[in-house]
Amino acid sequence: MKKRRIAGVILAAVMVLSLAGCAEKADETGDSKLVLGFSQIGTESAWRIGNTKDIEEQAGNFDIGLMLENANQKQENQIAAIRRFIAYKVDVIAFSPIVEEGWDNVLKEAKEAGIPVILVDRELKTSQQGLTTCLIGADFYKEGVMAAEYLIRKADSLGLEHVNIVEITGTQNSTPMVQRQAGFFDTISEDPRMNVLESIDGDFLKSRGAECMRYLLDTYGDTIDVVYSHNDEMTLGALPEIEKADFVPGQDIIIISIDGGQEAINVLKEGKINCVVECTPKLGKALMETALKLKAGEAVEPVIHPEEEVFSDEQDTSLIAPRGY
Ligand code: AHR
Repeated sequence: MKKRRIAGVILAAVMVLSLAGCAEKADETGDSKLVLGFSQIGTESAWRIGNTKDIEEQAGNFDIGLMLENANQKQENQIAAIRRFIAYKVDVIAFSPIVEEGWDNVLKEAKEAGIPVILVDRELKTSQQGLTTCLIGADFYKEGVMAAEYLIRKADSLGLEHVNIVEITGTQNSTPMVQRQAGFFDTISEDPRMNVLESIDGDFLKSRGAECMRYLLDTYGDTIDVVYSHNDEMTLGALPEIEKADFVPGQDIIIISIDGGQEAINVLKEGKINCVVECTPKLGKALMETALKLKAGEAVEPVIHPEEEVFSDEQDTSLIAPRGY
């Protein structure tokens, strides 16, 4: 008996569906198609838009019915979306938690309804074990480590004796913010040349990246040696501010970014960014494979981290292939 039959009418009004009419669809063996409810954080970055696009494409490739909701950067919208997925009795729920805390109640509701939950991109903290099945997303701590390792090599190659760093972080209490900072700080703490002047919240937004950079330049002026920015969007917001203040990004100030979207890679090729640590948004294939396994009652990997690399002025940047996001 297919449980999701009950709520189609109610939900049609409230959901942004890319479901392609699949809720009742059965394949030639008579099994109904898997329905996956996915709550996306929003559209704050090229990364996020690329991630949504990839998930939509892969749902099509795997013939999975996707109910996609955009939370417009609000946790309460994500919680409401998950409740709608539960009411609709989807087979599997997936979401990218905007912050790490505050999910216990809705996850308990999903568990009571017997619907497995996959974390995509970001992690969360819960008061009890077993409320989610697995995580498919980047190793953000390692990204922070790779950013710091690049900086240490760069300082060596320039013969720097003292390095003043400003950090523009992603959304406070989000997994990438917490772990990119921890990986970076743990690594530079072993190098006595490194000094963090200030860390400031840029919320992963281009506009905030610009605001933060204006403030940092006003406050620290030409003492800034390095900008470590937690994503490309904020970096792209910060660069014009650096130029307006008559500094040359990539030369007067070392610029380190994370994501590796096409726009940032183009700027890396121009020499205005020194290093971009890759964070791939292409998580859709692993998500669909995992959802199918869960529906079939098979065991899944608790953590799937994609392979990621570093793009920098240490290499021939003309050889970097088109990024696709
Ligand atoms: O969680 C991944 C991060 O979120 C990406 O680095 C950022 O661009 C996005 O908004």
